[in-house]
Amino acid sequence: MNAGNGERGTGNGLSSAARAEIRRLMAQFPEPQSALLDALFVAQEEVGYLSPEAIRGVAEVMDLPESEVTSVASFYHLYHFKPVGAHVIQVCTNLSCALNGCGRILQHLKTRLKIDVGQTTPDRRFTLKTAECLAACELAPMMLIGDDRHGQLTPEKVDAILTRYADGRSPKPEARGP
Ligand code: FES
Repeated sequence: MNAGNGERGTGNGLSSAARAEIRRLMAQFPEPQSALLDALFVAQEEVGYLSPEAIRGVAEVMDLPESEVTSVASFYHLYHFKPVGAHVIQVCTNLSCALNGCGRILQHLKTRLKIDVGQTTPDRRFTLKTAECLAACELAPMMLIGDDRHGQLTPEKVDAILTRYADGRSPKPEARGP
């Protein structure tokens, strides 16, 4: 979803085009505030992450308290509160994935990318995060890269996947994410 018409938000805030897109989304719901999740995606797409200014912009347009917007956004793993790389890797660390070796996968990613959880590679290609259950326990241990699910991971499989993303080729995931 691209709210932009070429105009970007000022600083890390929302452009008038993004605000208009949020109003358009609100108009599609009997209860306009039900558009909050979509509005947050509009803001994230425009700014690149949910900056305090972007959160404030969403709150203003939707006439919601900033604290409520922040609280809702923080509940979902698909929203980012810091600038991220081109590909956000989210490794599930919940029970099924933990029992199936997600710790080894996470450690392998840290070593391979030379970053810790929460960090972005210097070339801004990958950001590494952990996540709660990603609703694909049958693929444990699994990770999301963007919206793409990759499961039954081994270190070797992780290497092959990362190479495909780094090359910019089609990553051919198992499935789109939840
Ligand atoms: S526990 Fe990892 S996807 Fe459910």
